[in-house]
Amino acid sequence: MTRIAVLIGSTRPGRRGVVVADWVARAAAAHASVAAGEVEIDVVDLADHALPLLDEPVPALAGDYRNEHTRRWAEVIGAYDGFVVVTPEYNHSFPAALKNAIDYLYAEWNDKAAGFVSYGAHGGMRAVEQLRTVLAEVKVASVRTQVFFSMATDLELFTEPDAWTASSYQAENLATMLDELIAWSNALKPLRSKVAA
Ligand SMILES: Cc1cc2nc3c(=O)[nH]c(=O)nc-3n(C[C@H](O)[C@H](O)[C@H](O)COP(=O)(O)O)c2cc1C
Repeated sequence: MTRIAVLIGSTRPGRRGVVVADWVARAAAAHASVAAGEVEIDVVDLADHALPLLDEPVPALAGDYRNEHTRRWAEVIGAYDGFVVVTPEYNHSFPAALKNAIDYLYAEWNDKAAGFVSYGAHGGMRAVEQLRTVLAEVKVASVRTQVFFSMATDLELFTEPDAWTASSYQAENLATMLDELIAWSNALKPLRSKVAA
């Protein structure tokens, strides 16, 4: 069984991240590997974990986690093989809460794969370009295909989220991204088991 987490990267009240992640989870349930029971998809919401600003005395690379909230977060992330990161763009980057959540851990991210679903006034492209660079440092391989929602194409997501649904173009993009993500998450399994051994 391959386990994929849909990670909600924004935490503010009224965020659109929940709406986007709900759509991702529902659309992903129809993916062939999920329907066949080979892949399990869960939503992981950063807001549920309420991580303080990084308060570990030792860098995550050492794996010497001192705080209970860090150990709990490590257990959550460590349980997945890959991630669909749902991120908005904030000031040409991704949210500080997401960077903080990445910085908390190291080994739990290593040799896993990520795909991106971004949104923002301009589709969140700049947020994802920065995420790819940051995730590479914790040894997460990021797949090419990206799903993106902008005010130009998906105005309702921002103005009337209850009435919004994704276009068939982005639904197809999601299916391709999941194909790539599942393939890479599986391909990297031998590296992860080497570390665990
Ligand atoms: C602090 C802040 C900064 C933003 N900066 C950008 C930006 O640089 N580029 C952009 O396209 N949209 C930007 N936006 C618009 C957001 O991407 C959009 O409001 C999105 O819904 C925010 O995600 P959230 O609802 O999950 O918090 C910004 C929004 C906020 C709150």
